[in-house]
Amino acid sequence: MTQTEDIAIRPLSPVLGVEVVGADASRLDNATFERLRDAFHRSCVLVVRDQSLTPPQQVAFSRRFGELEHHISPLYQMKDEPDVMILSNEVVDGKLVGNPDAGSDWHSDQAYTDEPCAYTILQSVRVPKAGGDTAFTNMVTAYETLSDSMKARLDGLIGIHNFSRLKNPRMKPLDRLDTSYYEKYSPPDALHPLVRTHPHTGRKALYLSPRSTIGIRDMDDSQAQPLLDELFDHIDDPALVYTHKWREGDLLMWDNRSVNHIALGGVKLPDVRRIHRTTVVGERPF
Ligand code: SIN
Repeated sequence: MTQTEDIAIRPLSPVLGVEVVGADASRLDNATFERLRDAFHRSCVLVVRDQSLTPPQQVAFSRRFGELEHHISPLYQMKDEPDVMILSNEVVDGKLVGNPDAGSDWHSDQAYTDEPCAYTILQSVRVPKAGGDTAFTNMVTAYETLSDSMKARLDGLIGIHNFSRLKNPRMKPLDRLDTSYYEKYSPPDALHPLVRTHPHTGRKALYLSPRSTIGIRDMDDSQAQPLLDELFDHIDDPALVYTHKWREGDLLMWDNRSVNHIALGGVKLPDVRRIHRTTVVGERPF
């Protein structure tokens, strides 16, 4: 069992994130797990270095954070471990083995549902030689650095979120999927406050993204879209962003209540990226 005194927790960047060295995520005692979870909530992204969790071990580790949930589309679920989704550009027998372009725009996972997932947990399995970075923007600092007048303007506003790229003025359908995909996986709009409060830390964060926020309730688009554009520019400020360059054995997790993330792509076959992804249920944002 990894004991709390065996591990080191260090900042990943000045803006967010910590890395943990010396832990075995498959065998954390309860005190160590609690210490990591606290550091995680405070820093929004946590990387445990040098892990090689099997899919069942990743599921067991993820369940320590809460019940697991699935992506809206089952296309890339692992067959014998359906709680795990495969992210990969690898092609076997002419077929993609995983989702090659998940998260290619700033977003917070499953924000288009009524109770979006709290945490996303990724185990790196194959790290490409070039590309494949993941960037995170700190939505707590993004909120805190708004002007007082903007904070007052956002107070009480409700964002409209939708999964379908066809309903989003800032998105185009992905070339590899035809429009029937978005028609098949077309949940109703989800409504969430543009500023949400973290259930554990009490901190406020912006909750919006170009990938899923398509409007603002009770506000005409002539006002809502420019306001969203201004906020999307703000969350893209490099001063808020940490870009993760994956290493072999990284087990990385983020708190969807506190960060947006984006997969930066750029991996070209025969170079292969493979990641196993699990997600933990969250609460209705408030
Ligand atoms: C995601 O958005 O869930 C995937 C992120 C990544 O592949 O880097």
